[in-house]
Amino acid sequence: MKFLPVLPFSELPSGSHRTVMAGQRRVSLFHYNGRVTALEHACLHKGGDLGEGIVQKLDDGELYVACPWHGWQYNIRTGQAPPGYFDRQAVFEVRIENCMILVSENPVITAFRAEHAHDGLQDLRQLEYRTTPDSVHVLGISATNMNQALPRPSTSETALQVALDFAVSEYGAETRMIRLRELQFRHCEGYYSRHEEACTWPCSITEMNSEDGMTEIYRAMVLWADVVLLATPIRWGNASSLYYKMAERLNTVQNQITLHDRVLIRNKVVSFIITGGQDNVQGVAGQLNAFFADLGFIFPPFNYMGWSRGWIAEDMQHNVSSFMKSRYVRRSVKELVANAVQLLRQVKRIDSSHMQTPKPKISEAGGVTAHETE
Ligand code: FES
Repeated sequence: MKFLPVLPFSELPSGSHRTVMAGQRRVSLFHYNGRVTALEHACLHKGGDLGEGIVQKLDDGELYVACPWHGWQYNIRTGQAPPGYFDRQAVFEVRIENCMILVSENPVITAFRAEHAHDGLQDLRQLEYRTTPDSVHVLGISATNMNQALPRPSTSETALQVALDFAVSEYGAETRMIRLRELQFRHCEGYYSRHEEACTWPCSITEMNSEDGMTEIYRAMVLWADVVLLATPIRWGNASSLYYKMAERLNTVQNQITLHDRVLIRNKVVSFIITGGQDNVQGVAGQLNAFFADLGFIFPPFNYMGWSRGWIAEDMQHNVSSFMKSRYVRRSVKELVANAVQLLRQVKRIDSSHMQTPKPKISEAGGVTAHETE
């Protein structure tokens, strides 16, 4: 078998690893326990560079490299995933000759990508939409937080329930309410910041964690909903932190446009319910509108209702009763639903497949046009 020189031995000190060129390939070299080993550099998951990973000893006493993107692990000697997993990274034979590291031209152990077909995410991967030309699926998302064992009345959530009930009684809608506080899900862990391709659909956290509560949001919002009604309290002049936690995890939806020019959200309508003891309704609405616009949602006219008692209304115990007595609230929540459903009926007839996405694309990153370079 042919061997290719790749690196002076002195440039790979004991306890280090790095990726080098071997002819046309990139291989990751590891120098641990007095031995140099070599693996194919591109992780079998999404291609993360194993030469930038972290090497650690696992319970079986073997050294594994953890991919820097999402943590898949490979034995640096055998390429095998940890016990219980069946993926195997390609392994190259290594020789040291005349103070040079040489690796075999071809792997001596080939890569094996185990089937992960039973991860339960096929409907998301295949984008198996559950909307129909006639469906009126209204998804309510409540972003308020509270002690689950000691629930309290919430103005935003009460208004959202009124809206959903009205959608059923007036339009025969199918409705669902998701309370973010009842979902267990991790914060976005910023894989995008390491490499844009590390932000995947479905989200890599969802792939890693079968209990990830965001799976319910992805299914409901992307596959099922025609209309999304998001209800949030005002917290320090902004939407609730639970809303932002969810929004960051929706990077996976927006990034499909940036990375693959693929729009997941089409012909869906969104409106907002924003309530708080103190004000900044319009500021919150601006934030929400900007984010949901970037996902591809469409807005009815007057797509938010807001309610607050103003800056000096520190007697919070009166919030809910004042809210419940408000004729404005009862009227505006219903009108919010009416506008959303009426627009939905129009939107359902639009062929949006040719709609453009004037957003930044990875293919243009840092680029200038040929004309500008002249
Ligand atoms: S790319 Fe390696 S773990 Fe995802």
